[in-house]
Amino acid sequence: MQGNFMYHNPTKLYFGEEAMGHLVGELKNYGATVMLSYGGGSIKRNGIYDAVMAALKEAGKTVVEDAGVMPNPTYEKVMEGCARVRDNKVDLILAVGGGSTIDYAKAVSASAYCEEDAWQKYWVGQGWPSCRTVPVGAVLTMVGTGSEMNGGSVITNRQVTEREGSERTVTGFKLGKVFGPELYPKFTILNPRFTMTVPQYQMVAGFFDIMSHLMEQYFAGKADCTTDYLIEGLMRSLVHSSRIAAKNPQDYEARANIMWTATWALNTLLKMGKGGDWEVHQIGHAIGLVTDATHGMTLACVSLPYYRHVMHDGLHQFRRFAVNVWGVRPEGKSDEQVATEGLACLEQWMREIGLVMHSGELGVTEDNLQQVADAVLILPVGYRTLTRDEVVQILKESM
Ligand code: NZQ
Ligand code: ZN
Repeated sequence: MQGNFMYHNPTKLYFGEEAMGHLVGELKNYGATVMLSYGGGSIKRNGIYDAVMAALKEAGKTVVEDAGVMPNPTYEKVMEGCARVRDNKVDLILAVGGGSTIDYAKAVSASAYCEEDAWQKYWVGQGWPSCRTVPVGAVLTMVGTGSEMNGGSVITNRQVTEREGSERTVTGFKLGKVFGPELYPKFTILNPRFTMTVPQYQMVAGFFDIMSHLMEQYFAGKADCTTDYLIEGLMRSLVHSSRIAAKNPQDYEARANIMWTATWALNTLLKMGKGGDWEVHQIGHAIGLVTDATHGMTLACVSLPYYRHVMHDGLHQFRRFAVNVWGVRPEGKSDEQVATEGLACLEQWMREIGLVMHSGELGVTEDNLQQVADAVLILPVGYRTLTRDEVVQILKESM
């Protein structure tokens, strides 16, 4: 383990088929007015909305409806939510949905009473809230992002344009802000049954999002670190359960394991004592900005080109990944051969569960490729700091 750190995660989790029974008790800890934030209506079709409304009623709350949070939530929508919070003096934001809805709720929480330009302050400037924030609670309906137990809030703003010199114009950004524990959901209801109506495409995209979070944290650093052993265990569980769930999405055991893995993959535990990479996410976010594609799929289509590109810079860890996660036999092989076989196993698993393997299928074209490349944030961490030309090369290979 490296460095000095404090570990504190204040989110209270209720897990299992009976988790919803705890919602009324939790709601009683907050004031009278609850803003119910949700997405495009899936919760109305699968009955989760009715169950949440019943709990709100039993707890005696005044409900302010806040529907229509879109996948890849926009800053415009965040501003709409902020006005609703202020106008109704909301005491709790209850986010019912996937990562988009929960990320949105955190953004509204930090921005509703922010007297500065919240976009500039949090997402561009990476600053911290100095205003009053509104508590957030969550009922998770789609697995993948880890937003249920972290401070992450990824927001898309297509209304800003930045010019750098004369060649580079970026129209819009999709940026992540990781808020501190005060903005983590105060509680989250995790009922694997609630995820059973997620369409197969979204479901497997979420599975890859989990894998990507694990890989982003695994492929960094050189020291022996307990965290890497935890990550390997989570990866093996994910690969095992995802194979079952991709064939039979109604398998409760597999879906429950995956839900728990997703939460631990990005609830800050795994970043302790080592660095992270996160470049795949930067490229994925740029693709998402330009195409509005599903987050997990944007990561899937660039991961293999990216990891094959940086493999030689972190060969020891790619070798370890092959042996400890995929069971590649190293005897009589060079490190490079073993590492290459590990990535081939990753590819085979990705194809098996039905991920999008080419960014062209998501809408990346020769025409917009430079726009995507311009929107990629290049991070100076991980095994290799990319140049813009390398970003373009990876994007071309991903098509
Ligand atoms: O909008 P509704 O109708 O609810 O439909 C959603 C949406 O269309 C649907 N869905 C969710 N639960 C369902 C369901 N459909 C049927 N039955 C259910 N039970 O699934 C679609 C996708 O939902 P969304 O919330 O967008 O997916 P996800 O959880 O993958 O969230 C993606 C967002 O999270 C960000 C991504 O960038 C993206 O904006 N991320 C957040 C992170 C964090 N907070 O730490 C980290 C991640 O790396 C990621 O960047
Ligand atoms: Zn992700």
